[in-house]
Amino acid sequence: MPRMFALVPAAGTGSRMGESPPKQYLSLAGRPLLQHALGGLLASPRIEKAFVVLADGDREWSRYDWSIYGSRVEPLRCGGATRAQSVRNGLAMAPGIGEQDWVLVHDAARPCLPAEALRRLIETLGNDPVGGLLALRVADTLKRGDAEDRVIETVPRAGIWQAQTPQMFRRGRLLQALQLAGAEVTDEAAAVEALGLKPRLVPGDPRNVKITFPEDLAVAEMILASMESTV
Ligand code: CTP
Ligand code: MG
Repeated sequence: MPRMFALVPAAGTGSRMGESPPKQYLSLAGRPLLQHALGGLLASPRIEKAFVVLADGDREWSRYDWSIYGSRVEPLRCGGATRAQSVRNGLAMAPGIGEQDWVLVHDAARPCLPAEALRRLIETLGNDPVGGLLALRVADTLKRGDAEDRVIETVPRAGIWQAQTPQMFRRGRLLQALQLAGAEVTDEAAAVEALGLKPRLVPGDPRNVKITFPEDLAVAEMILASMESTV
């Protein structure tokens, strides 16, 4: 059976949060976002280990105690200028991952990954030839706006999904895809799509939010509280 690893890009600056430290270290319910993201992944016994891609000059990582994870968490100081480059560098540097092993790439900025969504991803893709990602079917009506925020058109939403993470691909193919796709792709699936392959969409969970803007923190705090109270 192929082994399973996680890779968490955490080398961004969080410019849209407009705060320091970078958002992966912002406190949510008393713990940094990154710790919540790692906890969500490592709750699955299938995931052997999570590699965390840090920016070269990261000064925050060493301020926290990561020993609760033992050898299941390993930082790699090889962040790049874009998310795609950080993931590519991390994949290239992470020791011990075989070409056919699965890698689940998960944003450090997604602190509320429900265990059942992770299980669904792993179970659905275990034998998949390509791999895939958690995603949500878009329910709202979609509008395209112009530079003055006036509606140009209503965009048909049939078949439209919103991509989440984790995104799960085999190490060898993902590294090859990212090398070919360049620095600007915004997720792993886009790089794999560029190879002409069709990643599988696995129903995600609306609670698996990404922290992008300051107001997202309060929402995530409520989600976390409700998840804990149902355990
Ligand atoms: N990321 C990364 N390396 C980069 C850019 C982003 O590892 N050069 C990581 C972020 O740390 C985050 C994830 O990719 O965990 C998702 O990116 P995003 O939400 O865009 O985070 P930032 O790039 O930090 O935020 P912003 O775009 O607002 O600056
Ligand atoms: Mg970004």
